[in-house]
Amino acid sequence: MSQTGPDTSSIESILKEGRVFEPPADFSERVGGSYISSMDEYRKLYERSIKDPEAFWAEVAAQFDWFKPWETVLEWDLPDARWFIGGKTNICHNCVDRQVNNGYGDEAAIIWEGEPMEGGKPEIRRYTYRELQREISRFANVLKAQGVKKGDVVTIYMGMVPELAIAMLACARIGAPHSIIFGGFSSQAIADRVIDADSKTIVTCDGAWRRGKIVPLKDNVDEACNQLERSGNAIKNVIVVKRCKNDIQWTDGRDHWWHELEKNVDDECPCEEMDSEDMLFLLYTSGSTGKPKGIMHTTAGYMIYTAVTARYVFNLVPNQDQVYWCTADIGWVTGHSYIIYGVLPNRVPTLMYEGAPNAPDESRFWSIVERHKVTQFYTAPTAIRAFMKWGREHADKHDLSSLRVLGTVGEPINPEAWMWYHKVIGQEKCPIVDTWWQTETGGHLITPLPGATPTTPGSCTLPFFGIDAAIVNEKGEEVPHGTGGLLAIRKPWPSILRGVYGDRQRFIDTYFSRIEGMYFPGDGAKRDDRGYFWIMGRVDDVINVSGHRLGTMEVESALVSHESVVEAAVVGMPHEIKGTGIAAFVTLEAHAEPSEELMAKLREHVAREIGAIAKPDLIRFTDALPKTRSGKIMRRLLRDIASGTDTNQDVTTLEDLTVMAKLRESDES
Ligand code: PRX
Repeated sequence: MSQTGPDTSSIESILKEGRVFEPPADFSERVGGSYISSMDEYRKLYERSIKDPEAFWAEVAAQFDWFKPWETVLEWDLPDARWFIGGKTNICHNCVDRQVNNGYGDEAAIIWEGEPMEGGKPEIRRYTYRELQREISRFANVLKAQGVKKGDVVTIYMGMVPELAIAMLACARIGAPHSIIFGGFSSQAIADRVIDADSKTIVTCDGAWRRGKIVPLKDNVDEACNQLERSGNAIKNVIVVKRCKNDIQWTDGRDHWWHELEKNVDDECPCEEMDSEDMLFLLYTSGSTGKPKGIMHTTAGYMIYTAVTARYVFNLVPNQDQVYWCTADIGWVTGHSYIIYGVLPNRVPTLMYEGAPNAPDESRFWSIVERHKVTQFYTAPTAIRAFMKWGREHADKHDLSSLRVLGTVGEPINPEAWMWYHKVIGQEKCPIVDTWWQTETGGHLITPLPGATPTTPGSCTLPFFGIDAAIVNEKGEEVPHGTGGLLAIRKPWPSILRGVYGDRQRFIDTYFSRIEGMYFPGDGAKRDDRGYFWIMGRVDDVINVSGHRLGTMEVESALVSHESVVEAAVVGMPHEIKGTGIAAFVTLEAHAEPSEELMAKLREHVAREIGAIAKPDLIRFTDALPKTRSGKIMRRLLRDIASGTDTNQDVTTLEDLTVMAKLRESDES
């Protein structure tokens, strides 16, 4: 079934494990009231949501502010879903203005902590809903003054500063879709995304703090702008937040300081009345072919689904001194949905932290939890594995008793990491919600509910309300529990992607062609005899590095664009911290000699082309890539070699993998 498939034997052993953790008896008391308190309640509501999704979602949508009510809840004309048709609303209004209008303007909306410490103290900024409304309105007016209109795509490439949240909400306020690019991506990645989205405005920072160093964001934007200019896609405006005060180049007419532009604007800016199906944002993500694709999300369905999942999955309750913290970067979908859009409507403050988990030392996250009395904490398995490696003493130094719910996302969590999280961070009192979802799904699709679902390490458990998930074979037939297959979602949900920007065919081919009549997320999975879902990993040529998606082909084309490389094949390999690391098999030009130096150069080259997260962990030079007689690269063989099944200590010598391939082929045929 699988090309870059997961190691099924480890899944088998996980499946056999079967430890069950019931929600703590005092959970409801600890969170100030659990929304869903038993499996009975979950099942009843789930059944209703599946039998009559339109009534279910209409009830949820009625809890939001609308400028004009919708006429039809859902139109599903595969592959196109349209939700709350005819309705007019605005997500920025529902995140911020609504709280002010209802008398909560002085409550904390965003709590931000900077990375640098002075005298042992970090900089902390708190924004109430009223302050946020003012800041957002002012920046919305800046954008308008720069000529940004409803429908124009604004590119955002920033560090984790409050201005990032303000910029995205300002875009939403005026109906300009944002395209946020993770600050770890390269100038090439910026240029590619700007061209694809036909964007003319970039919002950035001079630099971003990361582990005490400055990431030169503006330099990267300048490089991208030069390239864009050469290719006839010139950027009109670059708006720069002064954060690190690092030296930067300045292009008059194009570059503007955020704080200068803000001097001349009004404090008020009305929210644009957005059609339910107007585009809210584009977010680029890797696929198995070609360049990253622009995933399109629209206004109302995304707004409702992210807010309601955040409420139930993290049990967000206003007036309970809750402080919610998701450690993701806003540049990824987790940050979009579960730092900003899904959290603010629930009137629980959302914490943003600027920097690295080990700055100035490995206890930083736990000092943040203690300082802000964090109640809900949401992170990734790769981070948990790093914490384990650093040792529990860093957590033990701090008071973590405020924690109520722990979450994980991004990749399957290994049971050891789950147990460590449960014991050391949760102190055996906090349910762990292992949330399965994707950039394309907008919000959680398969996840425990903390007050109801008994959990088992490694399983994301059961579908959220309205999610008709199944494990099927290639024909779309459901397979028996215990059998591996393709994960499929049989009905649309409000925050399903609406398309791949500018590429209708890729949208259809990727998500709606493999299994007829259903959404196919690209993951393999199994259900156990309780019906719990166990994600086995991607079944396409996408690897999940530290919970971030990378197309192996993207890394291959980056390698091949280097003058010394003729051909490259990239596969995933087990990695202690990242979960999956990147192994590259490279064939060199005749003039190029394999060497440690060239290896380092190739790694840097990939970082320049894509970003540091795409740097191969292992490079092996080979005379030729092992191929089948029909010319297909034997990826399974490469995966075996990369994962250490066949090791050769001297990694810089040219290996004749074709010989091995020939042996394998005769073995297999
Ligand atoms: O393979 C699944 C894995 O991450 C993919 C989605 O990646 P991305 O769009 O970058 O979004 C990551 C954050 C939502 C999925 O197709 N994945 C995500 N969450 C889990 C997971 N695998 C197992 N368990 C999870 N909880």
